[in-house]
Amino acid sequence: MRAKLDELVTSALRQGSAVPAFTCYDFTTALAVVAAAEEAGRSVILLVAPKTAATPSGLRLIAALRALAHDASVPVCVQLDHASDLAVIVDSVAVGADAVLVDGSSLPFEDNIALVRAARATLDAKGFPGVVFEAELGGLAGDEDRAFASDSAGHDAAGLTDSSQVEEFVVRTGAQLLAVAVGNVHGKYKGEPRLRWDVLQDIAVRTRIPLVLHGASGIPADELVKAASMNVGKVNFNTELRTGILATLEAETASHRADGENLQGLLGRWTSSASAFAGTTLQTLSR
Ligand code: 13P
Repeated sequence: MRAKLDELVTSALRQGSAVPAFTCYDFTTALAVVAAAEEAGRSVILLVAPKTAATPSGLRLIAALRALAHDASVPVCVQLDHASDLAVIVDSVAVGADAVLVDGSSLPFEDNIALVRAARATLDAKGFPGVVFEAELGGLAGDEDRAFASDSAGHDAAGLTDSSQVEEFVVRTGAQLLAVAVGNVHGKYKGEPRLRWDVLQDIAVRTRIPLVLHGASGIPADELVKAASMNVGKVNFNTELRTGILATLEAETASHRADGENLQGLLGRWTSSASAFAGTTLQTLSR
């Protein structure tokens, strides 16, 4: 069943857990993630990258994910991730995205707020009033679609969320979820992740809306569980999911070619890899 992002996350937080969000570049991965969520009896979020959504095929993928969410036996939300282009936001919502991360985190504070407000005004004007917004305060190192090692410990302090701005940012943007930069990075961590728990704690006491941790790939399970106790209700994964799929395809392609160009069998391996990762993550977060 389709679910509203804020309600799904708030309800998980009430039970002391966070909901995982997985980037899906394709339908096979999304099917596997939803199957894992159904198996676990837990909610899940399907993320679509803005580069995917910026193409006609990407918009068709969003429409397909919406149908998948509708058909699922557990609550599923489809979210456009890291969007800053108003046209892509409108197109994605028009074909079925239930929620959007309006990402102005690379902009100055006022411009970030203005972008989120402009996205809301544009969607309202186009007749899409109920879309749930996540906004991001503080910049994350790393690439969202390609994994290169980024340094969490050496994270530029200016990139961390400035907790003193949180209340004003939340009120003025009207965001329903807040993505934070607390030493988390997109892609691979150079060395061990070093989350700034002091900054996260300081943010958590300043707003009641759920917090979002991007760059969850590589963060140890016990730290993800600890984050949920500090109001982090949504945790985003991409790198670990696609690393597992790519490793599986690399290992399995030759034998499936030899087995009569068996694409169906290879897709089964792809599905198993994605389901296993999603299932383990769902289990970790429901501890
Ligand atoms: P990772 O690729 O580091 O898991 O980050 C995913 C993410 O934050 C998507 O928004």
